[in-house]
Amino acid sequence: CGIVGYVGKDNAKNVVLDGLKRLEYRGYDSAGIALIINRKLKVYKKEGKIRNLEIELNKLNLFSSIGIGHTRWATHGKPASKNAHPHFDCFQKIAVVHNGIIENYVELRKELQSKGHKFLSETDTEVIAHLIEEELKETPNFFEAFRKAVSRLKGSYAIGVISSLQQDKIFVARKDSPLVIGLGEEENFIASDVPAFLPYTNKAIFLDDFELAVIKKNSVEIFDFNGEKKEKEVHTIPWSIAQAEKAGYKHFMLKEIFEQPRSIADTISGNMSWLKGDGKLEGVDPKSFDRIQIIACGTSYHAGLIGKFYIENLTRIQVEVDYASEYRYRNPIVNEKTLVIAITQSGETADTLAAMKLAKEKGAKTLAICNVIGSTITREADTTIYTYAGPEISVASTKAFTTQLTALFILALYLGKERKTLSSEKLEAYFKLLMEVPSKMEEFLNTERKEEIVKKIALEFYKASDALYLGRYVNYPIALEGALKLKEISYIHAEGYPAGEMKHGPIALIDETMPVIVVATKSKVYEKVLSNVEEVKARKGRVVSIVNKGDKAVKQLSEFSIEVPEVNEFLSPIINVVPLQLFAYYIADFLGYDVDQPRNLAKSVTVE
Ligand code: G6P
Repeated sequence: CGIVGYVGKDNAKNVVLDGLKRLEYRGYDSAGIALIINRKLKVYKKEGKIRNLEIELNKLNLFSSIGIGHTRWATHGKPASKNAHPHFDCFQKIAVVHNGIIENYVELRKELQSKGHKFLSETDTEVIAHLIEEELKETPNFFEAFRKAVSRLKGSYAIGVISSLQQDKIFVARKDSPLVIGLGEEENFIASDVPAFLPYTNKAIFLDDFELAVIKKNSVEIFDFNGEKKEKEVHTIPWSIAQAEKAGYKHFMLKEIFEQPRSIADTISGNMSWLKGDGKLEGVDPKSFDRIQIIACGTSYHAGLIGKFYIENLTRIQVEVDYASEYRYRNPIVNEKTLVIAITQSGETADTLAAMKLAKEKGAKTLAICNVIGSTITREADTTIYTYAGPEISVASTKAFTTQLTALFILALYLGKERKTLSSEKLEAYFKLLMEVPSKMEEFLNTERKEEIVKKIALEFYKASDALYLGRYVNYPIALEGALKLKEISYIHAEGYPAGEMKHGPIALIDETMPVIVVATKSKVYEKVLSNVEEVKARKGRVVSIVNKGDKAVKQLSEFSIEVPEVNEFLSPIINVVPLQLFAYYIADFLGYDVDQPRNLAKSVTVE
């Protein structure tokens, strides 16, 4: 879900709607906005995309200098306008937007109902408005009532409140769900994520857990849960607004695919200072652990699987990789001699945050690989390696993934250097190979016929109901990632499998209708993959292969092939994923789906 709020000289209606659109990638089941007009609180909600709400609001001539809004990804209560935020109290004087889950909402709701409160929705959020209303019976001080209400909540929340009783203030609170305050001239903002207010300001304060704030046109005050005032650092965000716009591309996803050479180059240069020469990665002693656990979700998890190859091969440290949601509940063996690496584009994924917290409690050292400066994970980890992908707006991740791989490779080189498993000559040689990746990728993306070729293959298969992706060794996770991209945006069932394991099951699925996408670029397992392709061919499967230029053997067996430039085998996943991203993209586009905002998904999942 996404929260936005505005107080200042402009029309809050427009600023909040604009901000919501920029956060739509966080959820798009329903949207709503609350404004104060003629001293009264007005609430407007609509099911579906923000556009629906905008059309509705544009029919009315509204002006307000204060407002809050919300775009929702349903957890409690189905997507319907009654469940859309903002929610309000019995007298419609207090409006609340909320991200997260209030775990004790059932008991709070019962308690409030017994005191006569009437509820209009099925959501956990509505109790917050009624709790504030109830606390206001005890004190005339609105901030006090807000503080007391919030301290009764259990669970996770980023909350924004406005009230007709306090015409010029937005009240916010945070625990385990992101909330950023944007600082402008005669205007201030609140949001779940920076892009919401990036056109207006790049100065931001990141709220921490158990903090409250009162935001006015010309002031921002931060408090702890006891009501004590706090000083906070103001961050300057290095992203430009151009990065958060489509720039002529049909979809953000396509733009982000094409941005990858730049993002990878930026990630290399952004991390040079600690890799090269006598530089050090602050916060984690590279010799203080004897094994590594990587935790992540979704696409970031696939990056982790490849990171395991890098680290184990270049440093000989044992690496385990877990889905964060599994790690939390499997009672992992973790102690002071473990380094836990959390990979997360957003830095806000609830499962990843919780898994890292658990590891920290057990004494592990923690390192985050993250794309968002100031996000929660970067403040909780002992150290952070940033990826410099710029804002990733499309729900399906592309440039975040390839920059995560870049960061993991750099980390493996660094650990190899520090632990002396890698000679300085070897390190230099690998570094040189890494430096070639952006131009090799550029070479692929700029091949004139590339788009034509990928589109042609997409056109051939866009009506398929299933697809099988195969890869081996360091490219096995690329098969998983290729399949995930197709599932996410084209809703075609797809499975990624290690090519050598196919004979133990998925081979039964293969017939003359089944597209089998095989990653078969040069590596030590090339011959093995070749024989797996023979196995597919023998069952009449329709082979689409990703091969290096000049390949003959695999190409001969394939109905279609996409040629990519040859790079070192460790780095080949970074290149090989690109045609698979494009393949999924064109299929989804042919099918007419909303590529950037696929159904049921959200960009950052801030609930468990
Ligand atoms: C969501 C997104 C995925 C993403 C995953 C992890 O499911 O739809 O694209 O890979 O979250 O996100 P993170 O921000 O932690 O990398």
